[in-house]
Formats: sequence, structure tokens, C-alpha cells
Amino acid sequence: MSRKEAKDAPGGAAAVSSKLAPRSEVGGRGDGRPRDAVAAGSGARGLPAGAGGGGRANAGGGRVIRYKTCLRNTIGDVLRARGWQEAKEGEGDWDFYWCDVAWMREHFDGTYLEEHQRICHFRNHYELTRSVARANQSIGPGCRKNLMAKNLKRLRKVLEKESTVEAAKCEFFPATFELPSEYHIFVEEFKKHPGTIWIMKPAGKAQGKGIFLFRKLKDITDWKKEDYFRRDEEKSDKEPPETYVVQRYIDNPYLISGKKFDIRVYVLVTSYSPLKAWLYRSGFARFSNTHYSLSSISDQYVHLTNVAIQKTAPDYDPEKGCKWSLQELMTFLAARHSHQVVRQARQQMDQIYIKSLQSVQKVMINDKHCFELYGFDILFDENLKPWLIEVNASPSLTASSPSDYELKFGLLEDMLHVLDMEGRLIGRENVKRVGGFDLMWCDGPVASDELALNCGQPLMYTTNSFLGCYNDREQQLKQLFNLSPLAQL
Ligand SMILES: Nc1ncnc2c1ncn2[C@@H]1O[C@H](COP(=O)(O)OP(=O)(O)O)[C@@H](O)[C@H]1O
Ligand SMILES: [Mg+2]
Repeated sequence: MSRKEAKDAPGGAAAVSSKLAPRSEVGGRGDGRPRDAVAAGSGARGLPAGAGGGGRANAGGGRVIRYKTCLRNTIGDVLRARGWQEAKEGEGDWDFYWCDVAWMREHFDGTYLEEHQRICHFRNHYELTRSVARANQSIGPGCRKNLMAKNLKRLRKVLEKESTVEAAKCEFFPATFELPSEYHIFVEEFKKHPGTIWIMKPAGKAQGKGIFLFRKLKDITDWKKEDYFRRDEEKSDKEPPETYVVQRYIDNPYLISGKKFDIRVYVLVTSYSPLKAWLYRSGFARFSNTHYSLSSISDQYVHLTNVAIQKTAPDYDPEKGCKWSLQELMTFLAARHSHQVVRQARQQMDQIYIKSLQSVQKVMINDKHCFELYGFDILFDENLKPWLIEVNASPSLTASSPSDYELKFGLLEDMLHVLDMEGRLIGRENVKRVGGFDLMWCDGPVASDELALNCGQPLMYTTNSFLGCYNDREQQLKQLFNLSPLAQL
């Protein structure tokens, strides 16, 4: 979006693009970190000892917390800034492990976890995601993909038996089929809705790779021939066919200055039984670089909002970037629409997180050592109805700008505050807010006792979810930890 267009948009959007800094301004590390980020840590941001992590690094028993991480981006910075110590490779003596899904697949079942150990995935984290092909090669491609849509369809069926009102709350994901296994059901659906645009996504890829849109069955007949409907003898010595997800394309997206966007929302699950879920106040909207139009459905710069795609556009301007914060987006929406309209969109989004998590609750292998930080991707249509596009169990933690770094650093710091390895919240387990995280579900909906400021919502909205609201996390942490008797020690 150009500065002029942003200026023209209502809701003070002009401030947005000027805040987006180019990657090159970031400090030469290529990860979006400001130069002084590691040295400063959170202790230097005015947080009290024990709140930011600089001052208190001990587990309950006075031992320094030891971590392992497979990533060298923001999470590594946050763990170090907290004063925790990195366990050397091969050392089993760790308290906290930020592992990848490949480690889970290969080692989790054979690993005995001590009482004090925490790990960043649940055993079957992939139940809510689409990109399972790579994560589960050991069980064979094609057998566990597209699980999010399957689980949601199943939940909708269960709810339909109970009440149509409850089942209607699950109407937030576009019709989705797995190919090749559901090809014939898809063709039936395709014929019922002539003129619909569909989007094909390889189940095992991310960042917009391999995605294409189509209108005619013929378009995938060609693809089909090329890809996996080869004759058996051709197939035998080759890789098995790649699994795709085909989904109804939301062709009437909500546009700002003529551009399409989707949003990234972070949800932390600390338990599946009972379900305990925290919603992060901050996140971002990713805009496409080119004005939206249906005249060319093959132009990925128009239709795919992934940053990885947009930054390769010939006219992409890194100075302007392509992101807004959710605070900026919500301010914009509040200026453009009535309270009722925005409130309804927020409530529908709350349903998306909760119903998605409930759809896998029964199949998730709960484990008190595990937690999961999910990234939900949501797209609004022109009526401001939110649609769930995908859920990521390993959302990107690499920052694309200083403000993106700040968001991710704060997010991960607050995640560690919620996990509370140091035991600062002992005796205060009923807190509903920790930094930017609000507890929105704890074996049932959590009611809010806080007024929602700066998010354009009326006072009667009582769910404890404050997406896009003012995130005064540092102030809240100071208050929270000063109140805690343990923080005084
Ligand atoms: N059903 C859909 N309707 C409209 N746009 C979509 C749809 N599915 C995906 N997109 C667009 O394509 C992008 C990439 O799709 P996504 O499912 O998130 O795949 P990836 O894992 O490659 O990011 C999304 O960010 C969104 O902009
Ligand atoms: Mg995506």
C-alpha cells in the first residue's frame, strides 16, 4: 500500500506504512533484530526483576533453568535474555526444549520426561494443521494430511446432532477436500457450484509454495495427468503422488485500499485436558502488493498474501513492507464500521480458535510437559466474516522488521511467563492475564473483568479476549509480578 493510499484510508492508517522499516535497517543480522536486542533483553526495558527474565533465572529449587533450542532466531534471544543457560548438544539435562516437529517424530516416544521438563509441541501437534506430509513421512504420505479440515468436519457433524445453532458456529472454514483421496467427492461438489474459484495447495509445503487457483476442472485434469494420475507402472519406481488440499477460494475478500490481506493470530495452549487456551493481543495483517482483481487468477501477487511471495514482487518496496499490526487494523475497522459489526467479527474469531481446538481435543494426546503456540491465519470476506485459512503449529519466529521483532520477542517472553518455569505465579494460578496473553478458555469460556480499551468494542462484550487491543504488556507484567509475593524475594 502506498503512503498516499494509506493516508486516504480512514482510521489513522497513514501512520502505519511509515512505521514499517526495511529489512536492511534492521542491523545486519538478517533476522530483524535491533542491534542491541540481546544485550538489552527485557531487563533493560524497565521490567522488574522477575518480570522480564533478566533478574530471575532460577527454577523453583534455586537451580538455573537450562534450555535447548533448535532455532537460532527470536526464541534463542528470548531464552538467553531471560538468564537461562543453554544445555550443550547431547546433554539430557534440560528443563525447557524448543524442539522441531522432526525431533518430536523421532525421539518423543522414546524419551522419558522428568516432572520439571517442558517441550513446545504435543505428541500429535499435526492434528490441527495441513502441512503434515513432511512431518509424517515415516507413516507414509497421504494418510494424515488435511487433518484440520477433517477434524472440523467431524466436530460439525457431532454438533449438528445436538443443535443447529452450535453446528453453525463451525461454519468458518471454506469447503475443503484432500486430493487424490477425495477427488470424486470434490468433483461432485465442483459440479454443484459452477463458476466457483478453487485453490490448490500442496499438503507438505508452506509459504505459498506450489499454490494455484483454478476455475475449470480441466485445469486440474492437466495437473492430474502430470502429477499423480500416472499409470501404475510409471508410478512404481517413483515417489508417491503429492497430496494436495483443494479449497473453495474466498473470492470476495475484505479490501483495504483495494488490497487483500489476511491476519495472523497467536494462541497458546497449555493443556488439552482440560482445554486451557490463551489469546495474544498482538499480531499482524499481511497485505498483498497488488490491487485485488479476479481478472487474472494466476497472479500470485494478487491472491497470496504470504510475505515470502509478496517480497519477490518486482514492485515490492521493503520500506513500505506489507504488514500492519492488529492494533492498527482494529482501529481502522472500528473507524469504518459500527460497534455491532466489529463485535460480531471478534466473536466469530473467538469461535474459530475455540471450535478448532475443541475439534482436536479428544484426539490430542494430552501431556503436562507439552504446550503449543499456534499461529492462526484468518481471512475476512467483504462482509467482515472471518474464515479460517490454516493453523500453523510452528509459526515463523523470524522477524522481518524491527517492529516484527518486537512483537515476536514480547510474544515469546509472555509465553514463558505463562508457562512459569520459575514458579513466580505459584498460588496465583487463577490469573486471567499474563503480559499480552489473555486466558480465553479454561475448561469453559473465561469471562472478562477488564474493560476493553482502544479496540472499539462496547462494554457488554465480556469474553476475555482482546485481540488487537492496546497491549500494555510491560505495565501489566510489572503489576502482576509486584503483586506476587515471590517477586519480592
Ligand atoms: N481459501 C482461500 N481463499 C482465499 N485466499 C486463500 C485461501 N487459501 C489460501 N489463500 C491465500 O493464500 C495464502 C497461502 O495459503 P495457506 O493456506 O496459508 O498456505 P501456506 O501454508 O503456503 O501459507 C493465504 O495466506 C491467503 O492469502
Ligand atoms: Mg499460510
